[in-house]
Amino acid sequence: MLRAIYPGSFDPVTYGHIDIIKRSSKIVNELIVGVLCNKAKMPLFSVEERVKMLKEVTKDLEHVRIVPFHGLLAEFAADMEARLIIRGLRAITDFEYELQMSQTNHKLEPNVETMFLTTSIEYSYLSSTTVKEIAAFGGELSQFVPEAVAVELMKKMSTKGECNK
Ligand code: PNS
Repeated sequence: MLRAIYPGSFDPVTYGHIDIIKRSSKIVNELIVGVLCNKAKMPLFSVEERVKMLKEVTKDLEHVRIVPFHGLLAEFAADMEARLIIRGLRAITDFEYELQMSQTNHKLEPNVETMFLTTSIEYSYLSSTTVKEIAAFGGELSQFVPEAVAVELMKKMSTKGECNK
């Protein structure tokens, strides 16, 4: 039984994340998408909202569970009895941070390994930050996030108000 954690902020989930979820869920027996609850990161969406969107967009996928977590990822992985952490790598710019994180997690929990999936080429430019910026300026979101997420982004942006002229 191989259980893996795919951790992240998912603020909000994009097609890039969904691609990694789909591909990794075919490799392992169970994939837990771990949603970081970290107020210090000042997310746009609450952890409950992020979990709800993830549940909606993964509802047709087998062996995928969405679980919020706080604190250390290595501890969360051990608590969930997961042997693997999965992360997506988009470009060389991701590498330094990901290397440091995987080595730290391995020091904390030597039984938990990190595996990287390279992002599919069509999503290699995509990030939640970019998507939020496009949404803030009223751009078209359908290439970047599923409809359910686009709706939530537009609702959120409409309550944020306009800046002074
Ligand atoms: O989607 P993100 O923001 O790139 O995900 C980052 C995440 C959640 C994987 C990372 O911030 C994390 O694991 N946070 C938990 C705290 C932790 O374990 N830190 C030590 C690892 S260096």
